[in-house]
Amino acid sequence: HTARQSLPKTIKAILNEKVPGETTVSINGWIRSVRSQKNVSFANVNDGSNLKGIQAILNSDQAKSLTTGASVKLTGQLVPSPGQEQQHELKVDQVEVLGESDSTYPLQKKRHTMEYLREIGHLRSRGNTGAAVLRLRNSAVLGFQRFFEQADCANVHTPIITSHDCEGGGEVFKILPASTYTTQQSSSAMAPSEFFKKPVYLTVSGQLHAEILASSMGRVYTLGPVFRAEESQTSRHLAEFWMMEAELAFIDRLDQLLDFTEECLVSATKYVLEHSKEDLEFFNRWTDKSLLERLNKTVTKPFVRMTYTEAIEVLQRAHDAGKVKFEFPVKWGSSLQSEHERYLATQHCQHPVFVTNYPAHLKPFYMRADHVQDPSKQTVGCFDLLIPSIGELIGGSMREERYDILHQKMIDSEMDVEEYKWYLDLRRYGSVPHGGYGLGLERYMLWITGLESVRDVVPMPRHVGSCRY
Ligand code: 4AD
Ligand code: MG
Repeated sequence: HTARQSLPKTIKAILNEKVPGETTVSINGWIRSVRSQKNVSFANVNDGSNLKGIQAILNSDQAKSLTTGASVKLTGQLVPSPGQEQQHELKVDQVEVLGESDSTYPLQKKRHTMEYLREIGHLRSRGNTGAAVLRLRNSAVLGFQRFFEQADCANVHTPIITSHDCEGGGEVFKILPASTYTTQQSSSAMAPSEFFKKPVYLTVSGQLHAEILASSMGRVYTLGPVFRAEESQTSRHLAEFWMMEAELAFIDRLDQLLDFTEECLVSATKYVLEHSKEDLEFFNRWTDKSLLERLNKTVTKPFVRMTYTEAIEVLQRAHDAGKVKFEFPVKWGSSLQSEHERYLATQHCQHPVFVTNYPAHLKPFYMRADHVQDPSKQTVGCFDLLIPSIGELIGGSMREERYDILHQKMIDSEMDVEEYKWYLDLRRYGSVPHGGYGLGLERYMLWITGLESVRDVVPMPRHVGSCRY
């Protein structure tokens, strides 16, 4: 006997057991809809464990107390269903209303817009779209975890409060004790700098910490929330999002990192295809009719690989041939704008594409220099993985493991070298070639749901101007 056996069974578990007619079962859930005919009523009840819930058959008397949104416990017999929609349904003997719901319930059975659902964020996971996203998110995380397990990567937890800005983009949130904000500070209130004795921030990436751990554990990954004071209001940016980061010691070529990254994504996607068919089919029906085809192609056809220099040529050729008009000019040395990324992945490749070896000045300090000799053509061993419709899904690189080169680069980038002494120590004592990457989980969720905004794939989105709940 396990503790679980004393709990009520989920609808998913009951339907999987398939013992119709033999036993009395109880289900707990929320009423999605009630449909009454002359002598018989049908209620759809869902407890979040599967997409379709279960259909309950009641007499009209029993159905009287049931309203959309109410929570119920229904007891009865599981019987084969004559309908096509489900294999089994529940013939109800006993109705218990746990929590009533009246006609103001905002999630009536009909198709709501994503904008409307965002306004009722605290209830949207009671609907199909909101719940299917969360089940798929769960499935994706399990898929990634299983891949890392098989690849001998240890799951590590990197801190959320940190004293550095990993990406150097200045998009950090600074943390201060709440007493800092009160106008009338008591004499004992702490001054802002006193708690940690230095400025600290919410992490923008666990990478530098993951590098510490890869320098002892060999292969590690971390999945956690990261924070960016991102001013841009786009469908791909949140102020709080989840990043999955891997860091691998003893790899010494960028293509090893690309192979690993590709296998990671393919493997997780295969897992989701295998384990979450019902939810994927739901999105294939409602958001993107080519979703399943696209995901099947993702797991069978190798990703495209091209250098930044080649990507610039592709973009210039497309522009010169009049195939596309860009708002931002394309020239070697300038960063790829989202319109460029989208052209490459969505139109040119129509498939995930690794763009590698960007100019060093476009990328953070830690990336490994390709040609130390010729700084005028300086590129770094890095990649962005671009995917159709969405753009950048993953960013990664080989890390500069050579002490002198890294030290010089930190000086050139006007970093506080003393503050990053520990990072240099990793190169001073037993330095190893290594590399890693970070995947934005919400953008991956867009890829596997066909939804258009990251605000719809995280339960409580935070972005500039909005932090509800
Ligand atoms: O490309 P980024 O900034 O890379 C890093 O932070 C590296 N330190 C990761 C590493 O090598 N360990 O971020 C990684 C990914 C992006 O490719 C994108 O998918 C996602 O994080 N991302 C965001 N997702 C949602 N909202 C935002 N504001 C995001 N910024 C980046
Ligand atoms: Mg990036």
